[in-house]
Amino acid sequence: MRQQVSDTPVLLIGAGMIAHDQILPALLQMRREGAVGEVTVCSQRNRSVEALARAPAIRRAFPDVDFRAALDPAVSATEPRPEHYRSVLAELPERSVVVVAIPDQLHRQVVLDALRANQHVCCVKPLVLRVSDSLEIECEARGRGLLVGVEYHKRFDPRSVMARDRYRDGQFGEFKLGAARLMEKWHYRDSNFQNWFTADATDSFVYIGCHYVDLVHFITGLLPTAVSVYGILDELPNGDQGYLWTDARVLWENGASLNVQNSLSFPDAAPGPNTQGMTLYCTGSGRGALLEHSDQYRGIAYSFGEPVHGAGGTQYVEPSPDYFLYQDLGGPGLVPTGYGVRSVRHIVEEALRVEREAGSEDQRRAIIAEIEAAGILATPSNSRYNEALCEAARESIVDGGRLVKLQR
Ligand SMILES: NC(=O)c1ccc[n+]([C@@H]2O[C@H](COP(=O)([O-])OP(=O)(O)OC[C@H]3O[C@@H](n4cnc5c(N)ncnc54)[C@H](O)[C@@H]3O)[C@@H](O)[C@H]2O)c1
Repeated sequence: MRQQVSDTPVLLIGAGMIAHDQILPALLQMRREGAVGEVTVCSQRNRSVEALARAPAIRRAFPDVDFRAALDPAVSATEPRPEHYRSVLAELPERSVVVVAIPDQLHRQVVLDALRANQHVCCVKPLVLRVSDSLEIECEARGRGLLVGVEYHKRFDPRSVMARDRYRDGQFGEFKLGAARLMEKWHYRDSNFQNWFTADATDSFVYIGCHYVDLVHFITGLLPTAVSVYGILDELPNGDQGYLWTDARVLWENGASLNVQNSLSFPDAAPGPNTQGMTLYCTGSGRGALLEHSDQYRGIAYSFGEPVHGAGGTQYVEPSPDYFLYQDLGGPGLVPTGYGVRSVRHIVEEALRVEREAGSEDQRRAIIAEIEAAGILATPSNSRYNEALCEAARESIVDGGRLVKLQR
């Protein structure tokens, strides 16, 4: 696609880890290229937006690009203002783009508020935790001719694209049995996570397991039909309880079964930011076929002279150059690349395309329907199995891992 110039502003709501590590750099690069207009960031606390503005990695990469920190002058740096985003939303011209990057259980209200302010939306996964919430969002978006894209960035990893291509070409035959794991580092417990990763709200499977379920659908086209999640409660540093370890079994419409293990337990001393990967056993053309992805070990191993400081820093590392990388192309600053960047960019670009190519609300709806049918960008309607999965998983986990059928 040819690079398009646009002055459409973008508002990022949420200034936590994912905003720092992936989303803001992707948006600032678009700003640098003239692909979007002003980028504004707001959050629940002034402190997190200020921290983002001072973050060394962002300052180093973007000495030439600014974002507007939408602070609330009426409160101190640390006072929470969960409603502050509403006043920032009210200032945004209609049919701009809002990126939602706040804790899972808060997505519904903020996405609906953005839609009611007539904004296109990009939301981090999982969009919402209930099928009815996904339907409500779809209805609101469709009624207004607005795009909602859900940021499942594994869909933009080249290995997912290769697997999808080959699976759909019939080279693997049919998926029957598989296993996936994604374990985040132990130190996540010490972060802001402890304020929202509580047993009543979410769990390790809903938080990160959904990535692999979405990926199996993206590759195979199959839909999940039932899930059983066994969760282990553990104490967060603030004393709250969370399902910090989960073991899930997801059944599929063709009878296939995928085991998914997730946790916040990958040792801080272990190499790399996490451990993750997936193996699918398939029928092939009668003699078996196999798809295996090591998603954290991408062929690079470094042993440094000294341990790397900071949370989860180690002396021996296995870094991934594929998800996110700041590349020096001669400056000014650095250029963020990787599938995390491509994913955010794709959703924002599709929202801008809807605006650019459509002259009426009906035409906007028609372009959005094409995007939904193509199935590359996750929307509420074409990825609702994820909400059905989250809802069934929550029911299962509090019932000791009972198998729960997904709503259709
Ligand atoms: N691999 C992935 O796809 C991936 C990775 C990390 C996070 N995420 C998702 O991103 C979301 C945020 O995760 P995170 O790691 O950045 O969490 P975090 O705890 O580091 O940050 C959350 C941010 O949301 C802000 N916030 C909370 N309530 C708000 C409100 N009412 N208004 C405005 N801001 C508010 C907090 O102040 C904080 O800045 C979650 O939904 C998570 O599942 C996805």
